[in-house]
Amino acid sequence: MRIRYRLLDLRLGAVSMAVRAILKMGDPQLLQVARPVTDFQAPEFREAVLDLRDTLAAVKGAGLAAPQIGIDLAVVLFGFDRLVRYPDAPSVPMTLLVNPVIEVLSESLEEGWEGCLSVPGLRGVVPRYARIRYRGRDEWGGQIDRTVDGFHARVVQHECDHLIGRLYPTRMQDLSRLGYTSVLFPELTDPSAD
Ligand code: NI
Repeated sequence: MRIRYRLLDLRLGAVSMAVRAILKMGDPQLLQVARPVTDFQAPEFREAVLDLRDTLAAVKGAGLAAPQIGIDLAVVLFGFDRLVRYPDAPSVPMTLLVNPVIEVLSESLEEGWEGCLSVPGLRGVVPRYARIRYRGRDEWGGQIDRTVDGFHARVVQHECDHLIGRLYPTRMQDLSRLGYTSVLFPELTDPSAD
């Protein structure tokens, strides 16, 4: 049985807004492999796109995957100009990516700090492939095909992991480098920082 929460639902004419609750680590829905999207016009998918956008905007995060808001579809949303949570991160274009496939272009791994909206209050050092090509569809079924590196590559790997039921602590190699954001990065004052 799936329980869906709707914290805020404003309907203004044709405009609908829904900020959903974000599931936290321990919820079995975060451990599932997400279903691929087959119908880009399906109401279930269109609603998922809107809810991902509204929810990510509300929490000012770097990225969000559909399973994190209780939607069993292979959809992720990521991108930002500048982040309070990651002030040193370069900008990444706002991207809604459907049915993603990642190809590793360099076996070299880079370590970097990650947080997750489903693991609130914590940060950990996670190794990720330095350079990847990712392909998938945009929200209307158009092709996306990008070769990226650095933080962009990290964000995509983190978000796509949510579609195969993986949270970043399960990718860590040294759990001594997992800790509370408020202790590790006391200069980050955002009270909702993940
Ligand atoms: Ni996450």
